Amino acid sequence: MKELEEKIRQYGTVLPGNVLKVDAFLNHQVDPVLMQHIGQAFAKLFKDAGVTKVWTVESSGIAPAVMTGLAMGVPVVFARKHKSLTLNSDMYTADVYSYTKKTTNRISISQKFVEPSDRVLLIDDFLANGQAVEGMLEIADQAGIEVVGAGIVIEKSFQPGAAELAAKGIRVEALAKVSSLADGKVSFESTEGDN
Ligand code: G4P
Repeated sequence: MKELEEKIRQYGTVLPGNVLKVDAFLNHQVDPVLMQHIGQAFAKLFKDAGVTKVWTVESSGIAPAVMTGLAMGVPVVFARKHKSLTLNSDMYTADVYSYTKKTTNRISISQKFVEPSDRVLLIDDFLANGQAVEGMLEIADQAGIEVVGAGIVIEKSFQPGAAELAAKGIRVEALAKVSSLADGKVSFESTEGDN
């Protein structure tokens, strides 16, 4: 998605540890027009997948997920994150380790918002090590529902998440694929719809 790559080139900064800071438009200040286009792009990519719900993890996944739900006409559920070990029998839960932040969060989705016939599209802002998507897959598994794939705003293709999900047969669609952040420079792989 050219518009997204241009935003990353214009406003993205590379931090030590291979972290791409995009807080000017994605995960602190949010560019609503860009988010709307992101939602429309995911809706187009997954239009034939029979999606009944969009799932994400709070907090940075919420903006692109809501715009995707709007474009597809389906509800959006965001998994809540807790540091504590609280267990609640009404919730599906999974533990998600963040390599970037070196912390483990328990993510949970209320059983109230899951139906056996659900076909879920997972949306997230970044795919790096794939832990957030793996956590949502674990919850879908507990609930016995179908996941149609994952829509990712920015994939860091040089980290293992994308390949690991592909190896599991999960359809992953990323709107920008960053192939390297070496020497503070952002390089992209070509993505769908570039021509
Ligand atoms: P994962 O996202 O594939 O699971 O990999 P990882 O464990 O490395 O990432 C953990 C957290 O760090 C996630 O945010 C993810 O979005 C974020 N992250 C990973 N790489 C980058 C990056 O290059 N830039 C930025 N800005 N974030 C990155 P989170 O813990 O879910 O937090 P939140 O921001 O959604 O609240």
